[in-house]
Amino acid sequence: MRQKIENIRNVAIIAHVDHGKTTLVDQMLRQSGIFRSNQVVQERVMDSGDIERERGITILSKNTAVHYGNTKINIIDTPGHADFGGEVERVLKMVDGVVLVVDAFEGPMPQTKFVLRKALELDHPVVVCVNKVDRPEARPQEVVDEVLELFLELEANDKQLDSPFVFASARGGYASEDPEAREGDMKPLFEAILNHIPAPEGDADAPLQALISTIDYSEYVGRIGIGKIENGTIHVNDEVVVLNMHNAETQKKVRITKLYEFDGLQRVEVKEASVGSIVALSGIENIMIGDTICSPLKPEALPFVKISEPTISMTFSVNDSPFAGQEGKYVTSRQIRDRLYKELNTDVSLRVEDTDSMDAMKVSGRGELHLSILIETLRREGYEFQVSKPEVLYHEIDGKKCEPMEAVTIDVPEEFVGNVIEKLGARKGEMTNMAPSKGGYTRLEFSIPARGLIGYRNEFLTDTKGNGILNSIFDGYAPYKGEIPTRSQGSLVAFESGEAITYGLYNAQERGDLFIGAGVKVYEGMIVGRNARADDMDINVCKKKQLTNTRASGSDDALRLTPPIQMSLEQCMEFIGDDELVEVTPVSLRMRKKILD
Ligand code: GTP
Repeated sequence: MRQKIENIRNVAIIAHVDHGKTTLVDQMLRQSGIFRSNQVVQERVMDSGDIERERGITILSKNTAVHYGNTKINIIDTPGHADFGGEVERVLKMVDGVVLVVDAFEGPMPQTKFVLRKALELDHPVVVCVNKVDRPEARPQEVVDEVLELFLELEANDKQLDSPFVFASARGGYASEDPEAREGDMKPLFEAILNHIPAPEGDADAPLQALISTIDYSEYVGRIGIGKIENGTIHVNDEVVVLNMHNAETQKKVRITKLYEFDGLQRVEVKEASVGSIVALSGIENIMIGDTICSPLKPEALPFVKISEPTISMTFSVNDSPFAGQEGKYVTSRQIRDRLYKELNTDVSLRVEDTDSMDAMKVSGRGELHLSILIETLRREGYEFQVSKPEVLYHEIDGKKCEPMEAVTIDVPEEFVGNVIEKLGARKGEMTNMAPSKGGYTRLEFSIPARGLIGYRNEFLTDTKGNGILNSIFDGYAPYKGEIPTRSQGSLVAFESGEAITYGLYNAQERGDLFIGAGVKVYEGMIVGRNARADDMDINVCKKKQLTNTRASGSDDALRLTPPIQMSLEQCMEFIGDDELVEVTPVSLRMRKKILD
């Protein structure tokens, strides 16, 4: 018989990037007594990866559980960026409701809309948390209206239109039903979750069915599947059958060797777990997202959200430049290949394929940002390699060539509107909307081929002097829009803006290899040394033909920039002219000495 599991709530936290999800969950953890008072609390407990911490983007969803009274609340953090869209949908399948976090000044943003739409489509109840009410420019009442408008636009059901609003300062540690309150604790948020988000339901006596939504990996136990028990009970050492919607034949019997539940930030080993619970389990060697763990008595797969297809690919290859081996510990094709395959254990939106060349791998992912984070992770681990210019992956639909599209939302001061329209127009972008937005900004919306956006983010930052905001979301496939005229000059490829990482320059006409591990970054249109210790390196800007010879600095084909390392992109482009390929690399002190000697 189906019953409600009253002492559990499973919720996902959804929000636009930076609206404060992580801070909010930290605060809930603190206040639910997880931390002893003398325990040192890391600034951000939810994001474990260095890069996540630095860039403030939650990449993979994380599970946490807090106890409030007798109830265990499983909280699932969702990725804030659209490139990880498939992840959001899977996470939402595990929960019975969502907490929508909206910044009390910014109001709903593109990502708010993207994730909220998915939650509403699943008929999930919503608790709205208007966060950062402590900001001096906060305008909580207006934000409430904007959220309600968004609910209407997304055709929320009657119950969703009746969602409770809680006004919070995650930073200050309080929440309230009163938008003017500036003190208290998080209790009102806990109460809203308990009262408004239903307990999970299922049949504890039915044969086991648990749906795997996330994969984790540990050196000790191998692949770990994380998911929710939809029916029945699971015990350590149980023999189970693993079924997959797409492949009903994989009916092998396997034994669960370890079983965990979540408590605070920990995974704690348990002997058994029952319906409604979110568990992690090991022992199933090839466990995949989308697998249903079933009782052998009545194996039946549960329906599942398809994993999003990759839209962009790059070639990762061994660094064959004269400066090879200067930056990294791991430089051989085998090392790079092994590392990439290991990444597949946890990142299901990634695809890695061998190519004709022993020294190159084709790596495909969900977008520029997805791949750039991978590149940066590997680089920091000590891998050194080159990557090609990103390319989009075309699809054949009804015999026609179709290409991935992006929906782009841009907020810029009015003076830059003309520039943005012109540039995106040239990249085959079609403007779908233009309206005044907050603080004298104009909001522009475009539909654009994904390839049209490659390299644009950084150009945009330069063009708008760092004042523009650009968001993009994968928007399905559309018939191929025809060739985008290539610019004859070398152009900059940067994957993200601001504090960004950048990999070098390529010439749009040519093969377009970028130089990775170059220790160069571009900031507001200036090329600067990555590590900011300007005195420990120079930067070499070389033309292609120089690459094969020892570099003569200061010659016509190479430019040597001495500290402080700065050069505007325009200067750089001027220097490159129509030449084939450029490389921008740092010259470490060691190398500089060598050259000087
Ligand atoms: P992603 O993980 O990137 O999606 O971001 P997030 O939504 O988890 O946001 P995060 O918690 O990292 O907060 C973003 C920034 O907002 C940080 O600098 C926080 O310190 C700040 N912030 C979070 N909550 C509050 C708040 O209540 N008030 C104020 N003033 N700042 C806040």
